[in-house]
Amino acid sequence: MKISVIGCGYLGAVHAASMAKLGHTVVGIDVDSAKIAELKAGRAPFFEPGLPELLLAAQDTGNLSFSTDFQDAAEADVHFICVGTPQRVGENAADLTYVNAAFTSVAELAKEGSYLVGKSTVPVGTALRLQEEIRSTRDGITVVWNPEFLREGHAVKDTLHPDRLVYGVESGLESDAAVAVLDEVYAQTLSEGTPRLVVNFPTAELVKTAANSFLATKISFVNAMAELCELTGADVTSLADAIGRDDRIGRKFLNAGIGFGGGCLPKDIRAFNARAEELGADQALTFLREIDLINMRRRSRAVEVMREMLGGSLIGKNIAVLGTAFKPESDDVRDSPALSIAQQLQLQGATVKVTDPEAINNSRRRFPELSYVETVEEALAKADLVAVLTEWKQYRDLTPEDLAPHTRGRVIFDGRNVIDSKAFKAAGWTYQGVGRS
Ligand code: UGA
Repeated sequence: MKISVIGCGYLGAVHAASMAKLGHTVVGIDVDSAKIAELKAGRAPFFEPGLPELLLAAQDTGNLSFSTDFQDAAEADVHFICVGTPQRVGENAADLTYVNAAFTSVAELAKEGSYLVGKSTVPVGTALRLQEEIRSTRDGITVVWNPEFLREGHAVKDTLHPDRLVYGVESGLESDAAVAVLDEVYAQTLSEGTPRLVVNFPTAELVKTAANSFLATKISFVNAMAELCELTGADVTSLADAIGRDDRIGRKFLNAGIGFGGGCLPKDIRAFNARAEELGADQALTFLREIDLINMRRRSRAVEVMREMLGGSLIGKNIAVLGTAFKPESDDVRDSPALSIAQQLQLQGATVKVTDPEAINNSRRRFPELSYVETVEEALAKADLVAVLTEWKQYRDLTPEDLAPHTRGRVIFDGRNVIDSKAFKAAGWTYQGVGRS
């Protein structure tokens, strides 16, 4: 099939390359000419394992091209809209400027009989509004909502081998013509036995926000338990292991730590809440505000704990921060708990040296006042305290022997509960994790 992908950020770039890998002829469109130049050269504009290889391979077959010109999308049978829906400045609601603009632009040039498939995360009600707006100006253009569940760091695998496909079609019926079209797009994925669910527009939109809200709730739940563990001498990791053995609960997304960040979970739960208020259902989602508060409290608590570990004051102390990305295998620092904690430590008087295997450039752009270094050794130099804030494998594997020759103190804060605490304690270090006595 001929496919266009509008918006080549995390979602769109991976989706375009993956659709080409599935055998379609794909053009990726973005207004950012620097990003398009990178993609054309087979380079991913962000760190995503496996994506550069996929981009090069797909472009070599001639199945994949990139352009800044919307007209290059005109011949496509299916247009995937993958633009961002950031949080509105000064508000909790989602900013739909890019989604609205993308749908309007594509609807003008799309050929009759083509499909506009939304993948962006949007407030419930958006798909129907867009379909009605388009219908008022043109015939023969069908809107479909096909939410995406990819995780950064696993984006290629999640796109090519998702655990489910959700098709939101206006009628909500299996017999809808749009279903056969998406079946053709995803023929290879479906042949692997991937379950697919046909639902109506609002269900498709809610599936996405509900999934992210549930994941955020799991994380904040275990972080709330961590608060209790800290007060009672219990151990949150053992608690998670024990409750996670129950299939109904499951162990995934029960890792206590400095909380969730990134470009999705934090803004999605806020936008969901804002939408519920508009719909007069704010009581139904009041708990999401609590989820957000628990999450934010992790950050201030981490700073407090480090202050206590350093004898009550951060002033004049050297702190080595290992990791600023919002999670490992990513260079994304949007709403990163690690970076926000690093900045707080600095603002409260510490001298903070920060390193990360992939996220230094993005971190520097966001918080230029921190001191960024390339290597762990440079970050550790004369440190009074070492803070492991993103669980990159190379940090998880660090031993007391690796650290001791460089640091001034023997104090380590483990913001992700991934360090070998026994080894550090045995070597005479003061160790503090999250939710562990
Ligand atoms: C999230 C969802 O997991 C995807 O399914 C979804 O498609 C995506 O948002 C999106 O809406 O586009 P992502 O933002 O890549 O994916 O990150 P996650 O893997 O969900 O992690 C989010 C945050 O939670 C990270 O900061 C991570 O460190 C934290 N986390 C995760 C914990 O603190 N504890 C855990 O047990 C798991």
